[in-house]
Amino acid sequence: HPVDALIAALPKTELHLHIEGTLEPELMFALATRNGITLPYASIDALRAAYQFDSLQSFLDLYYAGAGVLQTEQDFYDLTWAYLERAHADRIVHTEIFFDPQTHTDRGIAFATVYHGIRRALDAAQAQWGMGSRLIMSFLRHLSEEAGMAVLDQAEPYLAGIDGFGLDSSELGHPPSKFARLFARCHALGLPCVAHAGEEGPAAYVVEALDLLQVCRIDHGVRSLEDEALVQRLAADRTPLTVCPLSNQRLQVTPDLSRHPLRRMLQAGLAAMVNSDDPAYFGGYLNQNFYACREALGLSDAEVVQLVDNSFEASWLPAQDKQRWM
Ligand code: HPA
Ligand code: ZN
Repeated sequence: HPVDALIAALPKTELHLHIEGTLEPELMFALATRNGITLPYASIDALRAAYQFDSLQSFLDLYYAGAGVLQTEQDFYDLTWAYLERAHADRIVHTEIFFDPQTHTDRGIAFATVYHGIRRALDAAQAQWGMGSRLIMSFLRHLSEEAGMAVLDQAEPYLAGIDGFGLDSSELGHPPSKFARLFARCHALGLPCVAHAGEEGPAAYVVEALDLLQVCRIDHGVRSLEDEALVQRLAADRTPLTVCPLSNQRLQVTPDLSRHPLRRMLQAGLAAMVNSDDPAYFGGYLNQNFYACREALGLSDAEVVQLVDNSFEASWLPAQDKQRWM
């Protein structure tokens, strides 16, 4: 399709990507073998067949279990490098990725092991292709605020290589208000903050993330459309919404992609864009997300360009670098 050729050719940025969510079944098995771990699946195909989700939680259970094969700094490097190669192939020139340190420190992996493996890969992509990146440390909202404070203590020696903070994991029952003091501390460190909100949770969680956590972007935010006053506010402020269409489809947030709110968000003047979230689990990297939306929604050339421009606008690149790509 001609619009797909434009999608493939455009330089792009990705702003909502969990590095642990790029762990492909092939690498999961290879790392299990390397680390002497036995996975509860007979084969790569059997593992992939288990990726049938009916909710965010049903995905998170497999996502956290899968991350158990990541043990050494080299494992984190290999994981990150594999994603960056795919991102480069998709013509991503700048990527802002999440990592979930608590998923690893809670099983006895040192913060330094996780950080250095990811950082070394990001630096290699910059050196090899000139690919830019930002690294966002994300807190797990199903854990306590106190646990978030403790992992932030562990992060302090590495803050020169951490560009911002995020909030992810099980949304329902864990509103942004639970983390107001933690995010106040993050802001005091002078770094930007984002939060997942309005994925499974209500529009009220988006309002809380803005008012109580002072976030500069909302991750997902598709349920914002349920609150007209919120839509007006997000449009007026050009608050970015990092939408993940294949994730929404696979987690049954919007089971029918042809009814996905992406186009309505653009028409409402929202700074929405396309991202891949956890591509190894949801069936596609960034370009696949675009192709699926193009097909299901009939996106035009102009809408694709708008989505890509929104993404550069919402990125943490300096203004002159944004101008270069927009
Ligand atoms: N939502 C919440 N937590 C997550 C996600 C998501 O889409 N991906 C990885 N952790
Ligand atoms: Zn996410």
